[in-house]
Amino acid sequence: MLSNQAGGEKRTSLHGHWSSRMAFILAVTGSAVGLGNIWKFPYVVGENGGGAFVLVYLVCVFAIGMPVMMSEILIGRRGRRNPIATMELLGKEEGSSAHWRWLGTLGVVAGILILSYYSVIAGWTLSYIVKSATGTFAGATAAQVVADHEAFKLNTGITSLVHTLFMGLTIFVVARGVERGLEQAVRFMVPALLIMMIVLLGYSINSGYFATGVEFMFTPDFSKLGWNSVLAAMGQAFFTLSIGMGAIMAYGAYLPEETSIAGASATVVIADTSIAILAGLVIFPLVFGNGLQVDAGPGLVFQTLPLALGQMPGGAFFSTIFFILLAFAAWTSALGLMEPAVAWLVEHHNRTRTQAAIIIGGVIWLLGFGTVLSFNVLSDVKFLAGTIYDNVDYLTSNIMLPLGGMLIAVFAGWVMCRNSTADELGGSGGIYRAWRLLARFVAPIGILFVLINAIT
Ligand code: PFF
Repeated sequence: MLSNQAGGEKRTSLHGHWSSRMAFILAVTGSAVGLGNIWKFPYVVGENGGGAFVLVYLVCVFAIGMPVMMSEILIGRRGRRNPIATMELLGKEEGSSAHWRWLGTLGVVAGILILSYYSVIAGWTLSYIVKSATGTFAGATAAQVVADHEAFKLNTGITSLVHTLFMGLTIFVVARGVERGLEQAVRFMVPALLIMMIVLLGYSINSGYFATGVEFMFTPDFSKLGWNSVLAAMGQAFFTLSIGMGAIMAYGAYLPEETSIAGASATVVIADTSIAILAGLVIFPLVFGNGLQVDAGPGLVFQTLPLALGQMPGGAFFSTIFFILLAFAAWTSALGLMEPAVAWLVEHHNRTRTQAAIIIGGVIWLLGFGTVLSFNVLSDVKFLAGTIYDNVDYLTSNIMLPLGGMLIAVFAGWVMCRNSTADELGGSGGIYRAWRLLARFVAPIGILFVLINAIT
């Protein structure tokens, strides 16, 4: 028997399928590994006091992130449509309600909002490729690198230009489609990034402050950890794994039947977490060794790495390569952020992929100016969580993704019948039972508990 799906036959996706299991894993890893690992992880760890935050982050990744990712992939593969249509279809098919489509909508909106600021920071990496290659950081002191970064953020013209350039690159690849576009980009980027991080790790081990960095990252001091930091750690877990917004659901829609969802998820989670931890191990020794501020915020990586590399022989070369890889990592993640919205526009409004990519990309590009200006002209406009950027980040990472993730877990764990989920997860053995326990109880209750405590 194939399955108990309506119509008796497995669906296929309109947008084509991944050519292999490896292509899917590379694409999801490409989406997961991005600015979140190398730019955001170190800076939020720095802002939230180190060890205790890292511990909570790791618990969230494995106890909540992993089951939510599996849920998202299985829902995506079962529905084989864009996240909104899939949620609507499965909501009806599983005897619940078509209103589940709102969960898909939440994800489409979250993706658009996240990409609006993601593209701005990715633009920074493009500028830093040029700065590195032209020797801006050669022999620079800490004060010079920091001052250069501050001046850079104030430059509305350049930061707007690179944001525009990055959105252009993203629209280009998304327009080219699943097979040709997405697969090509990730194939060499993730391995190259891993090698680069290991090379940089060698440098930070020799910096003389490695032990200090390790201690900061792994010695938990729970007195520094309020509920807000716990929420930030959980939000970071969702953000870094690209879950809670339907991106992985959209990728799951193109996944061949025979691929193991648990195996693919575990591979992605381990690769993503390793790169984030490696980034921390590279950055923190450099921060302490050079007397920089651990809580420097979004500028942290853009100050530490150019400084450290500027002092080393061949530094301009390594620094250039590093920012090229970071830009690539951001690029492959940006594709995932746009995919749900684009797939939706193609399926519901009869647009070609190119038209959809241009329309959605254009909206995101415009919204991005909220973030560009948060670092200069509008830096004094502060409300709720801080600047416009701070608010978009807080709303998406700390509220929308966890909420989306919770509902995804509830849908897969409670709404879908056991047969459907067991069918997708390849039987009802130990892994299935562990997933079901996490998806039904641990993830939803854990997320709700943290959200309530942090917000009240
Ligand atoms: N996971 C990406 C990162 O860590 O940079 C960010 C991201 C990409 C989030 C794609 C969500 C998504 F759909």
